[in-house]
Amino acid sequence: MKVDLIIENAAQLVTCASGGAPKRGDRMRDVGIVKNGALAIVGGKIVGVGESVEINANFQSETVIDASDKVVCPAFVDPHTHVVFAGNRLNEFELKIKGADYLEILENGGGIISTVRQTRQASLETLIEQTRRRLDEMLACGTLTAEIKTGYGLDTATELKMLEAIFELDKIHAIDLVPTFLPAHAFPTEYKGREEEYVDLICDEMLPLARTVISQQLSVSSYFADVFCEKNAFSLEQSKRVLETAKRLGFGLKAHVDEFTNLGGARLAIELGATSIDHLDATSDEEIELLAKSNTIGIVTPTVNFNFGSAHFADARKMIDRGCAIAVSTDYNPGSAPCPSQPLAMAIACRYQKLLPSEAFNAATINAAFAVGLGKFVGSLEVGKYADVLILETDDYQQIAYEFGANFIETIIKKGKITAR
Ligand code: NIG
Ligand code: FE
Repeated sequence: MKVDLIIENAAQLVTCASGGAPKRGDRMRDVGIVKNGALAIVGGKIVGVGESVEINANFQSETVIDASDKVVCPAFVDPHTHVVFAGNRLNEFELKIKGADYLEILENGGGIISTVRQTRQASLETLIEQTRRRLDEMLACGTLTAEIKTGYGLDTATELKMLEAIFELDKIHAIDLVPTFLPAHAFPTEYKGREEEYVDLICDEMLPLARTVISQQLSVSSYFADVFCEKNAFSLEQSKRVLETAKRLGFGLKAHVDEFTNLGGARLAIELGATSIDHLDATSDEEIELLAKSNTIGIVTPTVNFNFGSAHFADARKMIDRGCAIAVSTDYNPGSAPCPSQPLAMAIACRYQKLLPSEAFNAATINAAFAVGLGKFVGSLEVGKYADVLILETDDYQQIAYEFGANFIETIIKKGKITAR
């Protein structure tokens, strides 16, 4: 069969093949390596995966990439980011180094609220331009699919402006974006003392409007609503109202739970059938058991703990040992994790959460793809999936988590097309 592209002779073809489901427990240790592996690609999709001799016997192409001494693997999927925002929080960097507390900064009108001020003031064009630069960094680190949240508007107009920025960036940027609507990220200052009214606004106006706007975007096949269930943010009751309304409207569900305080959000979100619960730093053993028995994916955010200079991390080791499906994200945002790099998130997860390189790799590819609802399309090198592929300048995939801060990405292939080399 004649194909558009063959990539052959890979020292390791790391497939992360999962057979249609996220990997949980022991299976997270298997990254599906084919030695001297090859890929055949037609129309942006993978049509052949196997040893080079076998692929060359079945497929021919005028374009052949020789990946001798290199790793060929799926592009990374980043399942939790807040990368649309204006400005930065550099003014809080020194404060945090000197010991200021994240939730205290938020309570005093800084933190998320400071980014809200900057994002409300920014034009759509500025928002797109500033976000594009960040997406370029993520791309350079090997991410080709990313979830991306609103949540720095906290009023209807700005939340919709953020959605518009996401749709526009999805069109102009190589990274495919999965929108998540997060007006329940913090309470805006103007609603101080009447928080329930803001929850009403979210449920009665923002979520229904966002649902309409998203459904007009033909290119969007997966989308979510999210809530920050936390002290000084949304209570369990408020989170429940938001998530139930979102579910009724047809959103997939995600929830920020247990980042600092366990309010019971993990159980709530799992019971509502959330696609993912995220952070999990203060999650109880009982909730870990619930997660293991559910179809919900646990997304950990090791960059956040690293950024806080904290020695306490979500116990992802225990979660995998109990049979949970775990994904890793950067949580790229201006406050708790200004970090575009999935390889760095993996490197931290290996050291502080005791993930093996194989587990971290599956967590940043196939499980991350399922965590954004695109597990059928990306996240692994399997026949029928999009050819979102990286060629790494190393002959062992473990190097990417081992040599932290380096960049081993030699070639990025998006839907079969060489995007950067
Ligand atoms: O995932 N926790 C809430 N949201 C982000 C932080 C956002 C911010 O600080 O701007 C998080 O850590
Ligand atoms: Fe977050």
